[in-house]
Amino acid sequence: MTPAQPTPRALLPLTPVGDAPRRHGSRSFATCHYRCGSACDMPVPNTTQNGHVQDEIAKVVGRRRVLQGAALVGAAGAAGTFGGLVASPVAAAEGDGAAAARAAAAARTTQNLGTTPFRPVAPNTVDAVRTAPGFTHDVIIRWGDAVLRGAPKFDARKQSPAAAERQFGYNCDYVGLIPTTGDKALLVVNHEYTNEELMFPADTYTDDEIKLISMRNHGMSVVTVKRGLVPGSWRQVKNLRRAPQNRRIHIETSFALTGPAAGDDRLKTSADPSGRRVFGTLNNCAGSTTPWGTVLSGEENFNQYFDGVPDPSLATEYARYGIAGGEGRGWSGVDPRFGLGNEPNEPHRFGWVVEVDPTDPTSTPLKHTMLGRFKHEGADVVIAEDGQAVAYMGDDERGDYLYKFVSSGTYTPGAGRRAKRANMRLLTEGTLYVARLKGDGTGDGEYDGTGRWIPLCSDTESFVEGMTVAEVLVFTRLAADSVGPTQMDRPEDVEHNPVNGKVYAALTNNTQRGTQFPVDEANPVSGNRNGYVLELTPARGNHAVARFTWNLLLVCGDPASAETYFGGFPKDDVSPISCPDNVTFDDRGNLWVSTDGNALGSNDGIFRVPVEGPERGKVQQFLTVPRGSEACGPLIADGNRSLFFAVQHPGEDDGSTFETPFSTWPHTNDFPRPSVCVAFKAR
Ligand code: FEO
Ligand code: CA
Ligand code: CA
Repeated sequence: MTPAQPTPRALLPLTPVGDAPRRHGSRSFATCHYRCGSACDMPVPNTTQNGHVQDEIAKVVGRRRVLQGAALVGAAGAAGTFGGLVASPVAAAEGDGAAAARAAAAARTTQNLGTTPFRPVAPNTVDAVRTAPGFTHDVIIRWGDAVLRGAPKFDARKQSPAAAERQFGYNCDYVGLIPTTGDKALLVVNHEYTNEELMFPADTYTDDEIKLISMRNHGMSVVTVKRGLVPGSWRQVKNLRRAPQNRRIHIETSFALTGPAAGDDRLKTSADPSGRRVFGTLNNCAGSTTPWGTVLSGEENFNQYFDGVPDPSLATEYARYGIAGGEGRGWSGVDPRFGLGNEPNEPHRFGWVVEVDPTDPTSTPLKHTMLGRFKHEGADVVIAEDGQAVAYMGDDERGDYLYKFVSSGTYTPGAGRRAKRANMRLLTEGTLYVARLKGDGTGDGEYDGTGRWIPLCSDTESFVEGMTVAEVLVFTRLAADSVGPTQMDRPEDVEHNPVNGKVYAALTNNTQRGTQFPVDEANPVSGNRNGYVLELTPARGNHAVARFTWNLLLVCGDPASAETYFGGFPKDDVSPISCPDNVTFDDRGNLWVSTDGNALGSNDGIFRVPVEGPERGKVQQFLTVPRGSEACGPLIADGNRSLFFAVQHPGEDDGSTFETPFSTWPHTNDFPRPSVCVAFKAR
């Protein structure tokens, strides 16, 4: 590309709210701006007096119980540095050559990631992926690599909108794997957002070029991959003639709205008077693969893409979704629909769960209104005992809620097209619920909180006074506010464990706990900088019913801190963990957790955690990711032999730029490139 009038990258709009740039844990003002529109600097959109989950936690989690194990690390606690890089007992063992040899020998005995013992990776800040001894990893695909035929060889100085539509997008998040034939499969990946400061050399592109290219680096990719020679390894099929199912989904891809709100007036724009057809998907964060082989993807911090002056008649609705207008990303300069003054309904067409059939590159992706509109982290589907599809969902905002959808129809078994077509209608009719958690359950002081899913609407009936079905679905946060759900600390992934039938929710952190939310002496996680993992048990083991019980599996942080809890496992034998984000399970039912924003000073990573038996709560760090990045995915696949994961935003840090990046991983260029990797047992 030959830029017409190069504009310094520094002129990209940044709209600080409040005082000077400041860090959030390991994050800076600039990184927060690019990531989520500085959500933590904005007022909490939920201004209701609905109770907060930490008050309920305080009721069920006896202080003594939370402190269990603290005495075991008393000495370490005295020397520990809460908030600094932790010198945990596990880390201290790093130099133990005999232990390393034993762990490596054990790792050679099996390839199964669910059962193989491994020596945890110590906290570190290296600019590399570091796996447990005995394991290794490969990079499968990087930002800019060709996905579709005709894509030019990637050159950061010759980017263009047309090229970006054919290349692997930026900031890979969710990773799914759909087996196709033989040794091949389709890798399905979300591209959540862009870091313009790391993507574009200064003085090379105009502002408009940067916007057009960045827009196309959002969305999703479908990439054909093939097993490698080493068991557990995978690689991209580079001959794109042999990859006809590859696809890029981006801002120009046409989506069909489904469900009761499709066609509603609130979803109509001048370009789409039907209110049924949307171009593009934005801020796709986590996701899941459905039992029928499609992929669900959550549209999360969509509010940041709209600029201009908000319509005063929508002030309440916009405020509840954090839609503030202003300079935003300035996208209305290249596409007027992102200007609130031009198209006040356009923001209502984002914030949904989308469904993609990766096996058919000509299929029209769907946006399911029946699953409600909020900052969707993702959606995870399990088939209940009577055949209904049940989707668990989190709204990733401080003080927002957990949701569940239960379908009216039932699952059609089978792998054929007919079954898939039938199953792709399951998420269009049913009932949407929001969660209320109580801490005063049976009252024996153990982990016995109770909970209830409160219905908001079915596809034909609203259960919220004064709101229609369409209003409940388009303004789900406002609908939920009025039925008394429990405010949560930023719900990220919520997924069911296919082995024990329980549901696990990552509550990543709440940086303003103690300021906007009350703290008391009994609160086990005052400040909650490191997050926790909630475990929900559906009543009678049936995901479709309204009642459940809950407890805490993990209160994350430095094991030396009295605030932490590791499922009752002795704290002198666990890895430090901070800010859980994505969760998945191996076929033994172990929980695998990736982290985002480690507040303990180490790089982020991925951890294995047994949830049953004598090792329940034994957190072990399996890998760490490079400087400035978060670990996404993760996905255990191929007979527990492969751990797929995404390295998102390597190099993201205060002052980090294309020319002076905080990371150059994966070290194929002198600037960082977000990439999807696979970890497996070394030969
Ligand atoms: Fe995109 Fe809630 O993480
Ligand atoms: Ca996430
Ligand atoms: Ca994240």
